[in-house]
Amino acid sequence: MKFDVLTLFPQSFEPIKQSILGRALEKNLISLNLINIRDFSKDKHKKVDDTPYGGGAGMVIKPDVVYDAYKSIEDKNAKVIYLSPQGNVLNQKKVESLSKEEHLILLCGHYEGIDQRVIDEIVDEEVSIGDYVLTGGEIPAMVLIDSVSRYVEGVITKESIEEESFSNNLLEYPHYTRPEVFLDKKVPEVLLSGHHENIRKWREEQSLKNTYQKRPDLLKENNDMIKN
Ligand code: ADE
Repeated sequence: MKFDVLTLFPQSFEPIKQSILGRALEKNLISLNLINIRDFSKDKHKKVDDTPYGGGAGMVIKPDVVYDAYKSIEDKNAKVIYLSPQGNVLNQKKVESLSKEEHLILLCGHYEGIDQRVIDEIVDEEVSIGDYVLTGGEIPAMVLIDSVSRYVEGVITKESIEEESFSNNLLEYPHYTRPEVFLDKKVPEVLLSGHHENIRKWREEQSLKNTYQKRPDLLKENNDMIKN
């Protein structure tokens, strides 16, 4: 899976070069190419933004600079995503479907936004990470890269994906490790029993209970899916 990111702040992407994704990058399971939009400014001061036509607050990123940055990638088959609070809200289903793409180009806005004309010209889909506004698209792009990369073969184990929260639209069961007793709290007996079927059943029950208590809306969604 290939990610190209168009951004004014390529340095912001250091956090996703660590740990699991760091290893995935090293093994070339995923690639991350950061393109600095500013490098495509023709202005002698490397200016990339200007005041909005019609007046109003903030600065708008110029369309030609973004277009030239995009053109430097040249892959007609890539899907171009603009991270924006106006987009479709990312969920696990969307993450899984994006992981089927071979090449994603992620466009990060900043300041007031990007001139609409270049968005209309190059963007296939707008994606939001939730109904709140951030200072830019960099953190949302990292959220997308992290969540999508987990589905790329070899990045994490298949079991981790199958058993995690939101697979089957349910939250995960609780986890325990050594010591057996911690602050007078004992690990649930069934987990020490070695009885695989009982453990499976217990985990299923806990998963349902967790979902019922914390995210009953997911159970309603499941119910609606069964009915339809
Ligand atoms: N840019 C600013 N806020 C955002 C959000 N919530 N999701 C995606 N991109 C954004």
